[in-house]
Amino acid sequence: MTADLVIGDARQLVTLHGDPGPRVREGLRDLGVIEGGWVATRGETILAVGTRAEIKPLAGPRTRQIDASDAVVMPGFVDCHTHALFAGTREAEWVEKIEGKSYLEILRSGGGILSTVRATRAASRQQLLSIGHRYLDEMLRYGTTTAEVKTGYGLSTQDEIRMLELIRELDTEHPIDLVPTFLGAHAVPPEHRDDPSGYLDEVIEVMLPQARELAEFCDIFCDEGAFSLDDAERLFKAASRLGFGIKIHAGEFRALGGAALAARYGAVSADHLDHLAPGEAEAMARAGTVGVLLPAVNFNLRLPYPDARALIQKGVPIALATDFNPGSAPTYSMPFVLTLACLYLRLHPVEAIVAATLNAAHAVARADRVGSLVPGKQADLLVLDSPTIAHLPYLFARNPIRHVIKRGRVVV
Ligand code: NIG
Ligand code: FE
Repeated sequence: MTADLVIGDARQLVTLHGDPGPRVREGLRDLGVIEGGWVATRGETILAVGTRAEIKPLAGPRTRQIDASDAVVMPGFVDCHTHALFAGTREAEWVEKIEGKSYLEILRSGGGILSTVRATRAASRQQLLSIGHRYLDEMLRYGTTTAEVKTGYGLSTQDEIRMLELIRELDTEHPIDLVPTFLGAHAVPPEHRDDPSGYLDEVIEVMLPQARELAEFCDIFCDEGAFSLDDAERLFKAASRLGFGIKIHAGEFRALGGAALAARYGAVSADHLDHLAPGEAEAMARAGTVGVLLPAVNFNLRLPYPDARALIQKGVPIALATDFNPGSAPTYSMPFVLTLACLYLRLHPVEAIVAATLNAAHAVARADRVGSLVPGKQADLLVLDSPTIAHLPYLFARNPIRHVIKRGRVVV
């Protein structure tokens, strides 16, 4: 069979072949690198991966060829935790934080998430689509080929469903594949200020059933200043009954037990994990719940970083994501997240790449399609301006992406 595209002679071809499950402990160092590797694609999928002798014969007269003899070739990044659909920006609050206010102080005084809710509600569909396209274009240029996107800036039935419809529309229009997550339980909106439990009732009884057709996952911000552990359990009961996959924002500010609760409900992931109660990591490891670490948040809020090495040692499959949002993490750069993960979570560059590809794909239940370069999977690949793997996180605050191939098409 003739290939449509052949990428040849990669200095290092990162395949992640082998065990298709989430990688834990020493497995996190298993990259499946082929020095001088070749990869062929046909249509939207990977046709073959191997040596020059195996792959070159698949090229015909019309096959496009990319020489990668000075480059690393790897799977596209899976950014498995973002809030990438929002209107407005919050640089004034960012300055207030530099001058000493905390994230939770700003949230309590009606700013933070709620100021983005006001801006997002006020924006038209057309405006939101065009902002969404702009950010997704940037994400693609930084190597993200699959992204989870959460709601949570609508906080009314109408506005949350509108967000899900817009995420679906962006998914069809844009090369990046989007994974929609319903986060109606992100904050209590101003109109329910004096009746937070009434708001959660609406989330569970009205929004959740309507979100079912449009969202794959259900998430909740379970933390100090947000929703309680009891709230999370009420939501998870209803969401599981409706067939949603479960996710949670847990332990960004305080250990409330959300990560262990999520593990008990078979969650695909528990995210943040800066603070964990005893036994929570073990519960996640047993359940196979992926721990999504978001070091751009720690960086931007100047908060201590979680103990990633302890999580790894306890057998938690860890993943990395940007958490791209206008408050706690105004960045869509996965390469920058990898740098932070190496320097401050003390991940080896090899571990960081596994966490940002295959394990991240598991955190959104897409590992059957993306996250590694294996024949039959989607042809989502990056050609990096990097001669070695470690060069990617090492040379920081730049864009190392030379080419992005999405479903077999060269899009960057
Ligand atoms: O993941 N923690 C809650 N939500 C986001 C922040 C969203 C915002 O500030 O707009 C987070 O950090
Ligand atoms: Fe988040």
